[in-house]
Amino acid sequence: MRSYSLIAPAKINLHLEILGDRVDGYHELAMLMQSIDLADTIDLHPLSTDIIRVHCNHPLVPPDKGNLAYKAAQLMVEEFPEVFARFGGVEITINKQIPVAAGLAGGSTDAAAVLVGLDMMWQLGLTRPELQELGAKLGSDIPFCLTGGTAIATGRGEEIDSLLGIDSFYVVLGKYRRLTISTAWAYQTYRTQFGHSYVRNAERLASSAARVHSGPLVKAMINKDGVQIGQLLHNDLEKVVLPTTPQVAQLKEAFQNTGALGTMMSGSGPTVFALCESEAQALEVQHQVRVAIPDPDLDFWVSKFSNQGIQLASPVS
Ligand code: C5P
Repeated sequence: MRSYSLIAPAKINLHLEILGDRVDGYHELAMLMQSIDLADTIDLHPLSTDIIRVHCNHPLVPPDKGNLAYKAAQLMVEEFPEVFARFGGVEITINKQIPVAAGLAGGSTDAAAVLVGLDMMWQLGLTRPELQELGAKLGSDIPFCLTGGTAIATGRGEEIDSLLGIDSFYVVLGKYRRLTISTAWAYQTYRTQFGHSYVRNAERLASSAARVHSGPLVKAMINKDGVQIGQLLHNDLEKVVLPTTPQVAQLKEAFQNTGALGTMMSGSGPTVFALCESEAQALEVQHQVRVAIPDPDLDFWVSKFSNQGIQLASPVS
């Protein structure tokens, strides 16, 4: 049986709108997601014993059952017990490049890579929709991470409508190393503060979600109009994170004071990104913010839009 090495890209949210509550306790969302080429590498090696083993080079990523990549392998074992009995377990090695608990779907993309890798290793021949259905059981961002590129995500984030790939823009990501934000906390706090304004009528929910499809941001994306995209960036979760986390608010302000096309927090934060039209502009924006906030705890990454989700790095024998 072969080993596999997969590339698992991070995502940013160009638009994140919270529409209302769901009976499953989650939120009804309308998002525009974008893959970037900052990526983890996930290696899968078959084991002759019936064990799932996880290794990661990052101290904050648990190498145990709490790891989303472990949970993805466990789900595959539960779904395909005879195949697991025939082929045995797997050793998962995560080379973490994406910052953890940062609003960049780092854990979700690793889990998506495990689903794709085990599908290949166990020769299951699952379709993309079948993999997405499995992924949705583990986390709302996983169906998007499987497909990647540029996509509208609705429902709890698991209903994906891919747009034509756009890979011409760059982003600078800024994140304080020791700052992490719990996604569950961000959504719960939003519900407490803004729940009164949630859309409760099913028809209005559907039309609000549909508005994103025909809205100006999607038009700007199709036209590759960076100035418009920069002006139309939106994230409702900023309303709860910026007032409670001054470092994030200051970082956003510092990005705003550069010549970047636009700036926004990604997902539930605390990563803030600045949209740029070229790598040279991204490096200049990074330099300006580094000078404005000379904090050694503040990390930066320059990354390019990517039109791909989980990819095979190379089949290892
Ligand atoms: O789906 P995932 O496990 O990534 O979500 C993490 C947490 O974020 C959930 O437990 C929930 O509290 C919140 N969430 C939400 N509505 C969504 C997605 C996430 O309330 N659509």
